[in-house]
Amino acid sequence: MTVKTVLRIGDPGLRETAQPVTNFSTIELDQLISDLLDTMAHYNGAGLAAPQIGVALRVVIFGVEHNPRYPHAEPVPRTVLINPIITPVDTHQAADWEGCLSVPGMRGMVSRYTRIQYRGFDQHGQLIERQAEQFHARVVQHECDHLDGILYCDKLADPQKFGFIEELASAGIIDQLPTE
Ligand code: NI
Repeated sequence: MTVKTVLRIGDPGLRETAQPVTNFSTIELDQLISDLLDTMAHYNGAGLAAPQIGVALRVVIFGVEHNPRYPHAEPVPRTVLINPIITPVDTHQAADWEGCLSVPGMRGMVSRYTRIQYRGFDQHGQLIERQAEQFHARVVQHECDHLDGILYCDKLADPQKFGFIEELASAGIIDQLPTE
């Protein structure tokens, strides 16, 4: 069990473009994925990208069964996704609240495609190809943005809908206080 330190906004490591993985089924890749899984579980994250623990490789993980940080989210299959490519199915977007372990204690409203196709590989190099909608699609887009050095707060739909959870809740801008 290795819970890694999650880089926080301001750390230049979050702003790098991550490099593609070229070798699958390696001890190093297994170790990275195990660290990502342990770290995501420890912080109750919905997803985590390798750059968030200081590794500039195109690896993300995500998955939600029941997550106290996202109490109303539908389940998302636990997935290791390497060298991902996202293609929107259509142009429709919707705005919703997002948080990020690299921007702790805050939430912001972000527009994302509501229907996407994504493809990539698991840690053994097996192709993963899926369609995703709604929260699942949002999580994948959020995590994959980390691979290009993009944080959700770079893409706010409305700057007034961004801030610390406690202040947003006190002001009635978000209607409940998610546990973090
Ligand atoms: Ni994030």
